[in-house]
Amino acid sequence: MEIILELAEIVKKCELVSRNILMRKNTPHSEEKIQRNECLGKFDNLLYYGDNIDAILDLLNNGYNEKIDLIYIDPPFHTNANYSKRVVINYLGKKKALKYKAYTDIFKNGFKEYLEMITVRLLLMKELLSDRGSIYVHVDYRTVHYIKVIMDYIFGSESFLNEVVWSYKSGGSSKKQYSKKHDTILVYTKTKKYIFNPQKEKSYNRGYKPYKFKGVKEYQDTLGWYTLVNLKDVWQIDMVGRTSSERMGYETQKPEALLERIILTSSDNDSIVADFFSGSGTTIAVAEKNNRRWIGVDSASTSISTIRKRLAIIDSKDYRIIKFNRDSDIASIKYELISYDTVDKSTYRIRIALEEYNLDLDNLHINKKYIDTISEILENDSLSLIDYIYISIGQNNPLVVYEDYRDDKSLRIKEEVNFIVDKLNTDIRLNIIDVFGNISIKKIELMTK
Ligand SMILES: C[S@@+](CC[C@H](N)C(=O)[O-])C[C@H]1O[C@@H](n2cnc3c(N)ncnc32)[C@H](O)[C@@H]1O
Repeated sequence: MEIILELAEIVKKCELVSRNILMRKNTPHSEEKIQRNECLGKFDNLLYYGDNIDAILDLLNNGYNEKIDLIYIDPPFHTNANYSKRVVINYLGKKKALKYKAYTDIFKNGFKEYLEMITVRLLLMKELLSDRGSIYVHVDYRTVHYIKVIMDYIFGSESFLNEVVWSYKSGGSSKKQYSKKHDTILVYTKTKKYIFNPQKEKSYNRGYKPYKFKGVKEYQDTLGWYTLVNLKDVWQIDMVGRTSSERMGYETQKPEALLERIILTSSDNDSIVADFFSGSGTTIAVAEKNNRRWIGVDSASTSISTIRKRLAIIDSKDYRIIKFNRDSDIASIKYELISYDTVDKSTYRIRIALEEYNLDLDNLHINKKYIDTISEILENDSLSLIDYIYISIGQNNPLVVYEDYRDDKSLRIKEEVNFIVDKLNTDIRLNIIDVFGNISIKKIELMTK
């Protein structure tokens, strides 16, 4: 009982805090629209770099109140640990693996601070949910019982729809307790008008044999006979495997199959889907692949760079990047202009060669044990640190005219870059994102012929 009252106190306190936040004015320090394929019109897809409170406030200031049909969040779980991104570099033909800090899940003032952090954000997110909307909160055994009570206070226990158990196989096992092999996803809806498109799953017949019941459709695969039934609330989905093509190296990355179920069930084609703790961008990638509009937010630069590359890999539509955090200013690139030739009356073909990449190691937030390796790489094969490169035209709404990223096999980008631009476009920029998520931008100067 005492704990329930304490949780009620937390919600009350956070209601006040969130009301104060709602009165705040906030402006991002930069905003750019990455034009890749096509424009979406009224609602752009949005990628926020910054604290999700700032992102939510910005959305509320821009007419997104009650516009979002699906919110999925996978916040830190109060694990008291730091999380990293695993990076493999192809340095002079040899593979080197290292870990780069992505984000921290340590709350100096303990569990109460953690719960307050989540509660304020849940209260604000509620403002964004449409009356057809649902919110999925992905947590684990450490926090689920407390968050359930908090969600009941915020959304009302009558709005509780499901407790989905995601069960998986990977990770260690224990001889002293049952091995912990599931996370819990709490599902709440804003009203009773919520979107719910039931998805099907296989249900194997007893003994894998055909039942041959009248009117029941049966199917067969290599395991045996099954029927298709509406999804149950226990989902067995494998974690992203080491060799999986969706693997981005982000430690807490969730499988696309998990997000696919959620997005297909609780959103429609015209829906906006949001994830305020985006990490490697699983929600965004699945929303994009399924033609949903999306909003992604993360406060870690590693996350934002990972998401940008992930969007390039799936050849996404245009999106807008809104930054509340500033990019680090520790990287620079040198290139050589090889040539620029007239293709026709109005266009040039430009060729450049990347020459050297540089990083200020004093300000790179990486474990000291890797510094010698990185400094050696910078000296001998600095271009091996480049993860994603694109050439853009214009500053505020850059049009991407060329892009390339490291694939899992070669782990290299092309060092000679060849692209066509309109002769009138003089603001041509070389954008580099390295394996740690640092960004450097250089204007490409054409000497007048
Ligand atoms: C568990 S990870 C999300 C993983 C993600 N579901 C995926 O599939 O990759 C949590 C993320 O929340 C981000 N985060 C933590 N606190 C945040 C905050 N206040 N605002 C925005 N992002 C935050 C962290 O940087 C981290 O990337």
